[in-house]
Formats: sequence, structure tokens, C-alpha cells
Amino acid sequence: RNETRGTAAVEQIKRLGHADVIFHQLDITDASSIARLADFLKTRFGKLDILFNGMDAGQRINWMWTSCRQTYETAKQGLQTNYYGTKRVTEALLPLLRSSSDGRIVNVSSNFGLLSFFRNEELKQELNDVDSLTGERLDELLAMFLKDFEAGGAEARGWPAEFSAYKVAKAAMNAYSRILAKRHPELRVNCAHPGYVKTDITRNSGILTPEEGARNITSVALLPEGGPTGKYFSEGEEASFV
Ligand SMILES: NC(=O)c1ccc[n+]([C@@H]2O[C@H](COP(=O)([O-])OP(=O)(O)OC[C@H]3O[C@@H](n4cnc5c(N)ncnc54)[C@H](OP(=O)(O)O)[C@@H]3O)[C@@H](O)[C@H]2O)c1
Repeated sequence: RNETRGTAAVEQIKRLGHADVIFHQLDITDASSIARLADFLKTRFGKLDILFNGMDAGQRINWMWTSCRQTYETAKQGLQTNYYGTKRVTEALLPLLRSSSDGRIVNVSSNFGLLSFFRNEELKQELNDVDSLTGERLDELLAMFLKDFEAGGAEARGWPAEFSAYKVAKAAMNAYSRILAKRHPELRVNCAHPGYVKTDITRNSGILTPEEGARNITSVALLPEGGPTGKYFSEGEEASFV
């Protein structure tokens, strides 16, 4: 999001010997920022080969260390960033991905997004039934979650406990990825859990190095042509969404 920090990061990468790296500002909660990125990519490259989604550190840090204070506002903001932000970026860049001969989307998910955290069986089944599930129904379910959350009854209604908005947002993003994979068989759309990684989000408390975490994500992006789509990968291995 930050021009100065982004440019500094690119300089650092270039000093490591990778010359072909550029920075472009993006705030996934800002529609005009998304449109500027899409325009830039279209003008400069005319296509997009791989989209990695999944940057939400602030939200998760807040929830991990002040989870007891997860409020209606932070829950709402969390869904806006983690689910709706990702969805908007994806939709804005879909035409460019379809212009690629082998377009790929990797949604950086989390084991916190697994359906096993949902204790309402009906809800769990609905989120897992991607043949019937639609984007509109996902919107309804997220609105229902927020309503239950506001009324203080989310856990009682079978939504995940602890970091609930983060888990719900990641589960919704997983479901949306599967819907998208079905709708666009010409693309590879997958979800990937990087593992527990030492980054800002975990306040460096993770087990894996950032390089190891990144490898778990890029390995999914670089699967052979015609490989799996609509799947979930945990630390590089295909696994269940449940
Ligand atoms: N680390 C783990 O153990 C772990 C485990 C499971 C899943 N994940 C997932 O991995 C992904 C990346 O996390 P990370 O570990 O790499 O954390 P990180 O080092 O803290 O990075 C998070 C990034 O998200 C960006 N971001 C936050 N809000 C944004 C917005 N509105 N628009 C654009 N960018 C935004 C931040 O950009 P700024 O620099 O502008 O702040 C930052 O670069 C997340 O989706 C997370 O859920 C991480």
C-alpha cells in the first residue's frame, strides 16, 4: 500500500540480483486503487499470468493479540479486506488473467479457513457444496454471520469460535475460489496455506522462514500446465477444504 516502503522493498530485491521487479501501489479495500492497478497492467503488459491474493496482516495481528476485543467493526472490516477486497481485485484482473495462455490465481488461505471450525453442520455442508453455492449466497451467509456476531450469538449459531471473522472470511474465500475454478476451467484457481510463518502477521512467532512459507505458495502457482484447479494446498500438499 505504501509507495515508499514498496519502492524500498523493490530496491532490496534488485540488490539481491533480481532486476525484473516492479512495484505498483494497491489497497484492496480501495476500488480506485484496484482500478489503477488493472489499468497499469493492461497498458504495460496486456495480460496477467499469476495473481497471488492474500495480504491482510493488520487484521490478523489485531485479532491474534487482542482477540478478546474483536468488535463488530473489526469483524466487518476483516470481511471487507480478506474476502471482499480479494474478490474485487480478482474480478478486476480476471480479463487480464484470461488473456494469458495459462492464467493462474493463488489465494493465500489459512488452516484457520478450514470448514472443521464451523460447528453448524448445515452451514458447513452449504459452504462445501460448490455445485450449488453461488457468490450471492456467500454474500447472504456473510451478512448472516455479521448479524449473529452483532447480536452476540455467532458462536451459539455454530460459527467458528476465536478469530471468527478471520476464519469466516478465509472459508468464504476458499468457497469463492472453488466457484471461480468451476466457472473458469481455462484458469487454474487454487488456495494455499503457507504454514506457520515468521512474518509481521505472527509477530515473527512462526516456525517456517518467510522463504519456506513463500515456497509453499509459489509451488502451487507453478504446478505443471493443466494441473489441479479448485483445490486447497496445505504447505505445498493437496489437502481437504474441511
Ligand atoms: N504468516 C503465517 O503464519 C500465515 C499463516 C496462514 C496464512 N497466512 C496468510 O498469508 C498471507 C500473507 O501474510 P504474511 O504472513 O505474509 O503477513 P505480513 O508479512 O504481515 O504481510 C501482510 C501484507 O498484507 C498487506 N495488506 C494488508 N492490508 C492490505 C490492503 N488493504 N491492501 C493491500 N495490501 C494489504 C500488507 O501491506 P502493507 O505493507 O501495505 O501493510 C503486507 O504486505 C495472509 O493472507 C495470511 O492470512 C499467513
